[in-house]
Amino acid sequence: MPDNVSRDITKQVSGDKQVSGPLLAWYDANARVLPWRAAPGTPPPDPYRVWLSEVMLQQTQVAAVIPYFAKFTARWPDFASLAAADDADLMSAWAGLGYYARARNLLAAARAVAGEHDGKLPSSEAKLRQLPGFGPYTAAAVAAIAFGERAVVVDGNVERVVARLFALADRLPGARPRVRELADSITPSARAGDFAQAMMDLGATICTPRSPKCLLCPLADRCDARAAGMAEAYPVKAPKRARPVRYGTFFWAECDGQVLLVRRPAKGLLGGMRALPTGPWGEAPPALAEAPLAADWTLRNAVVTHGFTHFELVAALATASIGRHIAPADGEWWPIAELDSAGLPTLFAKAVAALRRTG
Ligand code: ADE
Ligand code: SF4
Repeated sequence: MPDNVSRDITKQVSGDKQVSGPLLAWYDANARVLPWRAAPGTPPPDPYRVWLSEVMLQQTQVAAVIPYFAKFTARWPDFASLAAADDADLMSAWAGLGYYARARNLLAAARAVAGEHDGKLPSSEAKLRQLPGFGPYTAAAVAAIAFGERAVVVDGNVERVVARLFALADRLPGARPRVRELADSITPSARAGDFAQAMMDLGATICTPRSPKCLLCPLADRCDARAAGMAEAYPVKAPKRARPVRYGTFFWAECDGQVLLVRRPAKGLLGGMRALPTGPWGEAPPALAEAPLAADWTLRNAVVTHGFTHFELVAALATASIGRHIAPADGEWWPIAELDSAGLPTLFAKAVAALRRTG
């Protein structure tokens, strides 16, 4: 955004909001202790750890990220080791975190940093934006948290806090540019990383989506939504469109204590992940004709449902016992007793659990 635009808005709507002082004081006393963080007011942590955590935290809750962060940093402690990781190992280690494009971008970014940037992240938001997988959020978060640059960091928590502080009547997601301007107007030039994380912590612990704890909030006396007694009404959201349903079939081919797994094509949904063979996903429940190999397939009395960003998947489960190990070109037979280590994405793990229940 051109500088003059944000300046104008600062004057117009929030020159007197003075959010950062009380918020940072609250953060000094109440910051969550998290493995990728430095204590408030202390020098920033290792940029590698900041970056890795921010990529993981983008679409995943803090509690779910903590064990993955520990596993990744133990195994790949820096850009050089991550850049040298085997793609398949990395995808397996990511299994269960979801949004697998993040894992593919993670590798691409680590390789770019190790190869072209001498193993170090560039320290400005603008330069970070040029690396693979660095969208506006990640670039701003890393610039602010790892390098102390004044960058405007907006995630879902920040969006909610800002919408409430200013009682923003416009609907999300259309109002995102406006939210960013307002967030810009309250971002301090010093301690931008602490400020961003303070906003996130406030959103996660006090200014929660439901029943915000305004009585405990350090910003209560300057919050427009609270003043109107309408905290929970913000952010205003556009009505959700129902997600369309798509249908698929997961095929469980068993032979001699092993099950047939495939590697999904690198491009597309769950790209590069190990998986049960599936037919194409379409508008109508598919036929057994899509099976990965000819066998006496049985449709089981169970389905697996899974919410993707743009559709809901309903998958039927088909099983067959095969006499000998024949496999399509991209398949591998995996010991059923060791299926936990195959790195299956959650929806296939759900299918395995459903099959175990139905016997
Ligand atoms: N969500 C995204 N980034 C975060 C961070 N640095 N701390 C806590 N929650 C977050
Ligand atoms: Fe959120 Fe309530 Fe604080 Fe306003 S006063 S920022 S609504 S917790």
